[in-house]
Amino acid sequence: MSDIQKQRAGEAAALRVEAGMIVGLGTGSTAAWFVKALAARNLSNLRCVPTSEATADLARSLGLPLTTLEDVSRIDLTVDGADEVGPGLALIKGGGAALLREKLVWEASDRCLVIADAAKVVTTLGAFPLPIEVVAFGHKTTGNRIADVLSDHDISQPARLRQADRGIVRTDGGNVIYDARCGAIHDPARLADDLKLITGVVEHGLFLDLADEAIIGTDSGVETLTP
Ligand code: A5P
Repeated sequence: MSDIQKQRAGEAAALRVEAGMIVGLGTGSTAAWFVKALAARNLSNLRCVPTSEATADLARSLGLPLTTLEDVSRIDLTVDGADEVGPGLALIKGGGAALLREKLVWEASDRCLVIADAAKVVTTLGAFPLPIEVVAFGHKTTGNRIADVLSDHDISQPARLRQADRGIVRTDGGNVIYDARCGAIHDPARLADDLKLITGVVEHGLFLDLADEAIIGTDSGVETLTP
């Protein structure tokens, strides 16, 4: 993990934004660099849709004008971080527990730009635990059904309920997160489909066929990747 790499990616992404755009603001430490760099550009007539309460707070503190997904029909460009960037720009997201709002914003966007430090680029997804957002009611039962699906995908470790110092982690929507230590995800599309079929699973952190481009911060600058 390199902060300067994240900063470079965030600053390069901010240069892609034009005055008058509706912009989706991602969540996490890399997205925060983007939000700061975007605010510093002082572009006129921007409207920004944050993907989490944390990002909304940051954007508000920097004077960026906020709107909501309810108030705009489409978003021109969303810029967001990722936990892993795999082949074809298949992603794992949700390490910051914002995956549901992130995916809603990404899917409403004409263009999605992922920003990351170089260590996030992988040849196979799955070393980073896959976040799965689950309705709190009956979440242990849902967790058991997730374990069954994982087992069908040759993933023997059951997903773990995400905990923090203050207890069970709750998302902005009040749901809980199960993290699946997959090791290697050989068929991300099939796993994505199978997880979505479980009642109680709200969303998972596999972002497939959504990213249009990646800006990867490196020790010497940035590199761009396309699917
Ligand atoms: C938030 O839920 C995530 O999807 C983040 O975008 C992801 O965890 C990357 O975070 P960092 O930029 O902090 O590594």
